[in-house]
Amino acid sequence: MIALCDDVEIAYDDIGSGIPVALIHGFPHNRSLWAPQVSGLLDRARCIAPDLRGFGDSSRDGPFTIDQYADDVAVLLRTLGVSRAVIVGLSMGGYVAFSLWRRHRALVRGLVLADTRAGADTEEARSKRQALIEVARTRGSGAVADGQITAMIGKTTREKRPGMIDEVHRMLESASVEGIVGALEAMMARVDSTPTLATIDVPTLVVVGSEDVLTPPSEAEILHEAIRNSRLEVIEQAGHVSNLERPAAFNHVLTEFLASFDYS
Ligand code: MLT
Repeated sequence: MIALCDDVEIAYDDIGSGIPVALIHGFPHNRSLWAPQVSGLLDRARCIAPDLRGFGDSSRDGPFTIDQYADDVAVLLRTLGVSRAVIVGLSMGGYVAFSLWRRHRALVRGLVLADTRAGADTEEARSKRQALIEVARTRGSGAVADGQITAMIGKTTREKRPGMIDEVHRMLESASVEGIVGALEAMMARVDSTPTLATIDVPTLVVVGSEDVLTPPSEAEILHEAIRNSRLEVIEQAGHVSNLERPAAFNHVLTEFLASFDYS
C-alpha cells in the first residue's frame, strides 16, 4: 500500500490486529526485512512496516535525514489512525526510533532497539561512508551490497545457512542509488543519541545478535545500562540482521515484550 505523507509516497504493509507496532528497517534494507516478524505476530499485533523514503517502493525524493525519516513514520502512523505504537527499529531503524522519541514522543508506546547504537559517527565512520557513496555512484547498488553483505550476516548463519547470503544480498542490491546515498548522508549527519537514553521512560527492549560485528553486543549493553527499566536480550548465533537470521528466537522475545503491554 502507498500513503501520501506530506506529498511524498511512502509504501507500507499494514497487516494483523492487536497492539500497533511500527517496524523500521535498517540500511540499505526495505520493509521485506520484517517478513518473519509480520507473519509471526499478525494474530496479536497490527504490524505497520514502511519503506523509508529512497527504499523499496517509496518515493526516492529527499530530503534524506534521520529526522525526516522519523517525521515520515509519524505522518504515516497518524494517517493510519494510530495514536501510539511500539516502535521497533533495527540498526538505522534504531536511529530513526531515537528521533521519533525526541520529536514525536506521544506516539511512542514502547521501543525495541535491535542491533543498533546510540552514538554518532566517528570521523573514521564518516570517511568509510563517504567512500561507500563513491562506490554507489560509480558502481551501483550491487557493488554496495557486495561490500556490505559479509558484515551484515553472522558467522554461524553464513556457515550453516548460506542461502541467506543470497537472500539478504538481493534485498541490499535492490536499493536505489538515491536511497543509498541519501541514507549514508543522513547517518553521517545524525546527532549523538547518547543523551537521549536517560530520557526514555517507556518500556524498552534491547536486542542484539551475539555475532553482530556492525553494532556489537557492547553497544547494546550501553543502551541497556542507560535506559531505565530496559530489558536486554542477546540472540545467540545471530549477526546484524538477527530478526532474519533467528526469526523464532527474535519473535519469541518480541512477543513476550508485546505481551507486557496492557492492550485490548
Ligand atoms: C544498518 O544496518 O542500518 C547499518 O549498519 C547502520 C549503520 O551503518 O550505521
